[in-house]
Amino acid sequence: MACISWQTRTLASDNLPLIEFSENRVMKSVDYTEYAAKPFGGENVSGRSPTFRRAAAKAVIDTFLLPYALLRHRQLRRQGQRVDDHTYTCFLRAPAQLSLISGPVLDYLGRGERLEITLLACSNGAEPYTIASWLAQAVPGLDFHIRASDLHPEMVARAQAARYSRDEVLHSEYMTQSFLDATFEEDADGYVVRPEIRARVSFSQASLLDGDGLRAEFGQAPLVVAQNVLFHLPPDLAADALRNLYSLTKPGGALLIEGMDLDLRAEVTEQLGLVPFTEDLRRVYEETRVHTPLRWWRYYWGTEPFMHLRPNRSRRYATAFKRPAG
Ligand SMILES: C[S@@+](CC[C@H](N)C(=O)[O-])C[C@H]1O[C@@H](n2cnc3c(N)ncnc32)[C@H](O)[C@@H]1O
Repeated sequence: MACISWQTRTLASDNLPLIEFSENRVMKSVDYTEYAAKPFGGENVSGRSPTFRRAAAKAVIDTFLLPYALLRHRQLRRQGQRVDDHTYTCFLRAPAQLSLISGPVLDYLGRGERLEITLLACSNGAEPYTIASWLAQAVPGLDFHIRASDLHPEMVARAQAARYSRDEVLHSEYMTQSFLDATFEEDADGYVVRPEIRARVSFSQASLLDGDGLRAEFGQAPLVVAQNVLFHLPPDLAADALRNLYSLTKPGGALLIEGMDLDLRAEVTEQLGLVPFTEDLRRVYEETRVHTPLRWWRYYWGTEPFMHLRPNRSRRYATAFKRPAG
């Protein structure tokens, strides 16, 4: 008898495209489903204030428990278990990093030719559509295009569909009404990305680990983005993937790599001669870990709080790097 098995963590909305399944094949959806809409405060982009309880717990953990947390996290990372189907993402994930892109990063790149952006590991498309919407608002008249991709064809299809449930759109800590208005058309089923934002982004399937394939497909671009994915690879593969990303970045270009093992990021970016953007360093870093659970050391993808006393802290905590021209 034919065996049909359907393993699922899907689907956030009945209106989303279903992944087809076939006989004799175990299908596993990679669509993350635990998004939950949060109330948001109009134009307040400073994030929701944590409850007193959470703020107090965080203060205790980030001071008294820190040595224990660092030790446990190092042990966990050494165990080496990683997954490639963790597809959590977010619209307007870290506004301070978006300001970094539309400010210091663009200043570094110069504003002459059309800006080509290569974005890997795009998940359901929230990240490239966010960057497209942000740039269109923050830098009117900027000519740019984002070539986005993901390992999983299902995620590429989700991104191309450009339709999202309220939970998918409104679970951001930083959502604003003006971002919603600029990015989406709303209907009875949820949100659809506006045609003018969709036109700024194209999608395809690609693996970070296929260096030759990536170079053949994308060539070099002035801005390369691969965020919250490198910490899902074992360290040796993450280092290889970062070298691939470097090879996709034009000399004189920039690379965004939030979400990577911090020791490894410091080590490999130094080897490659990448120079960190240090503007708003702490705020950008802390916003990018806003979804990290309080007990961050229990997750290999958890990241420590910003520590002033860390040697080499710019390279360790920076999420954006310059590839020098020379
Ligand atoms: C946690 S999500 C991050 C999404 C988005 N970049 C963000 O920051 O919100 C990680 C994504 O990386 C993708 N991924 C995992 N391994 C990959 C690989 N080897 N090459 C390309 N994408 C990969 C997963 O499919 C998933 O969509």
